[in-house]
Amino acid sequence: MRKTTAGTRRQARARAVLVVHGPNLNLLGKRETAVYGRTTLAQINERLAALAAELGVTLETFQSNSEGELVDRIQAARGTSDAIVINAGAYTHTSVAIRDALLVTELPVVEVHLSNTYKREAFRHRSLLTDIAVGQILGFGADSYLLGLRAAAGLLAASKAR
Ligand code: DQA
Repeated sequence: MRKTTAGTRRQARARAVLVVHGPNLNLLGKRETAVYGRTTLAQINERLAALAAELGVTLETFQSNSEGELVDRIQAARGTSDAIVINAGAYTHTSVAIRDALLVTELPVVEVHLSNTYKREAFRHRSLLTDIAVGQILGFGADSYLLGLRAAAGLLAASKAR
């Protein structure tokens, strides 16, 4: 049981992590496999679900190719999720709207990328999300997501302990 600020008692719920996948990540496993590997998005989500169970957090995943849908889903995390892990794909480098939506939630954000974007084209070196994220994990392929989920769960455990 947790005590709310109002002093009433309520049942503690498992902390909830939302994992957001941006454009073209639905094609993982088929898309530029030399860069992104052969693991599909469904396999990544399965691995995330298994790890979430191990870590004692609940998991929701969401993928869209549309900036507006991503903004809507991120906004909806306000009050329902406790942390966000996001690979915004190409929108990482361009989207003020996704950055603003993440700020609206006031939730801790972990930015992840499969590839090491700093080893790639110059336009991928700038992220509009890094300075509003708690941290960034990149370059570990599908494992970047699992490391990102561990980081988010660790942040939530640390905030609960306080
Ligand atoms: C990516 C890197 C981005 O530059 C790219 O547009 C993607 C994937 C990654 O996970 O490495 O779609 O976010």
